[in-house]
Amino acid sequence: MPYLTGERIRLRAAEKEDISAFLRWINDEEVTENLLLVSPMSRFEEERWYESMMKQPATEHVLVIEVKDQGPNNDFRPIGTCQFHNIDWRNRSTEIGIMIGEKAFWDQGYGTETMQLLIEHGFSTLNLHRIWLQVYAKNKRAIRAYEKSGLTHEGQYREAHYQHGQYFDVHLMSILKDEWQAERPSED
Ligand SMILES: CC(C)(COP(=O)(O)OP(=O)(O)OC[C@H]1O[C@@H](n2cnc3c(N)ncnc32)[C@H](O)[C@@H]1OP(=O)(O)O)[C@@H](O)C(=O)NCCC(=O)NCCS
Repeated sequence: MPYLTGERIRLRAAEKEDISAFLRWINDEEVTENLLLVSPMSRFEEERWYESMMKQPATEHVLVIEVKDQGPNNDFRPIGTCQFHNIDWRNRSTEIGIMIGEKAFWDQGYGTETMQLLIEHGFSTLNLHRIWLQVYAKNKRAIRAYEKSGLTHEGQYREAHYQHGQYFDVHLMSILKDEWQAERPSED
């Protein structure tokens, strides 16, 4: 299964050649505004991160989000990344993360489609039970995309994130396999 394929996107394995795009994305302050990253990242650090990420189980490797180019060759263009973090196999639970680094592609439904595709992979192929994430309360775009992807608000950590001289709440959101199944179109 080389690709996870959706309507308009596909998810593929990351390659070393992607590091330049990753560096560009994670050194863009608008992209990282709502991510854990707080310091500019050098190529050396990014390469070191890539090597250590590749030593993790394949189910936790970063996947590159690609969209079909408008050009004549039907090429695909990378626009961001997504992944599962720290899969807990006993409880069949995982954290999920996403970053669309190409800002021109925000607000066109690609984040929602990516989440739906990765969630489907988590439940129907990896047999997970629960998929969850944390998101800053100020990240309205992400919260809306997660709601559209079927995630439920579970609660919040009050004033758990400090940035720009103030504290922000952090929302906890999740989806369970039976909730996801209930929302799937029936196959007959
Ligand atoms: C967050 C992210 C994954 C969302 O992906 P996306 O493709 O831009 O999102 P979608 O187009 O699927 O959905 C965005 C929704 O938020 C809405 N939205 C955008 N800005 C908003 C705002 N300020 N307030 C409320 N809703 C907003 C959009 O209108 C859209 O909803 P709609 O379809 O009902 O109109 C992407 O923007 C991203 O990677 N951002 C930078 C990194 C990041 O924040 N990652 C998440 C960390 S938890």
